[in-house]
Amino acid sequence: MSALNTPSASDWSSHSVNYDTRSHPDSSRPNATSEAPTQGMIRRAFIDHFLPLIDQLLSYNLDTNEARVAPFKLHDSMCGTGAELTALLEHYAEGKGRTLARNGKLQIVATDFAQGMVDSAKAKVKHFDQVEQMVDFGIVDVMNVPYPDNHFDVDTMIMGPGLVPDPDKAMAESVRVLKAGGLALYAQPYDIQGWDFFNEPLQTLGFLSKGSPKMQDLPMLAAFRDVEAVKGRLERAGLHKDSIQHAFSEDYYTCSDIVKFTSDLFANPGMRAAFLPLLNEDQRSQVRDEAIRMVHEKYPDGVARLKHVVAVWWGYKPT
Ligand SMILES: C[S@@+](CC[C@H](N)C(=O)[O-])C[C@H]1O[C@@H](n2cnc3c(N)ncnc32)[C@H](O)[C@@H]1O
Repeated sequence: MSALNTPSASDWSSHSVNYDTRSHPDSSRPNATSEAPTQGMIRRAFIDHFLPLIDQLLSYNLDTNEARVAPFKLHDSMCGTGAELTALLEHYAEGKGRTLARNGKLQIVATDFAQGMVDSAKAKVKHFDQVEQMVDFGIVDVMNVPYPDNHFDVDTMIMGPGLVPDPDKAMAESVRVLKAGGLALYAQPYDIQGWDFFNEPLQTLGFLSKGSPKMQDLPMLAAFRDVEAVKGRLERAGLHKDSIQHAFSEDYYTCSDIVKFTSDLFANPGMRAAFLPLLNEDQRSQVRDEAIRMVHEKYPDGVARLKHVVAVWWGYKPT
């Protein structure tokens, strides 16, 4: 580690992570399997790729004199129902995290622009000890973040940058609120076979025309399939060019995962507002039921495995 209060460029590139997510030891944890399947997969990407980077920066900061007085602040933006938040709390609220929380050394702020999402995340947090000292919540639009410049050590935007009308503004905001040497973490769905189960019912039921782009090809998501172009955008947003990296996290849905994902997606109030807002309640139920019917029809034995790839990017703000 360099003498500066941030990892050096060689530290950035030498950090290795375990890409074989299917054999990750976390898969045996009860919480990992009780989550909605998408959350399980997102959690995998977050746990495999990002927790080691957060740990590295946190340990480094705790070793510096400045860190003895300044708390380590993490902003989990677009927190949704708390997939990353629960991974963080499992990692930090137990063991050494208790000390960090008690001493005010680790402060997490989880935000989303949908109250329903924040409420869901809040409900999950109740299961953890000590978190009242560690976690705060807020209603925040990522394109207009109400925090001052140079405020956070880590800013995460997981499964969200492609959803906002102006992702460049959102990423610039996330870098603006980072301290010098702070770490920015982004993730986006990259290739999700299971999404075809939404396209087909939407077309069959007449909500999308046959010639419409598939959901995964919509411009807002397609923009994040060119991983090198995203790196350029992150550099323009203010991250240190040499520190920007990407990786892929691959996992598989089973048919029952798809069915559960579909039910969960349509049951969550925040997601109902964000997903297919133009459909009324009855129409959304129709799409959900049709998607589930198609899964059962196509895969009657229930054993199909559908690939799901998440792209992750990270980088540090220049010191
Ligand atoms: C796909 S979910 C991801 C949630 C969570 N990070 C996860 O990985 O499970 C995207 C979230 O972004 C939120 N969102 C969408 N646009 C937003 C915006 N402009 N500002 C803040 N949150 C936004 C939605 O409410 C939703 O909770």
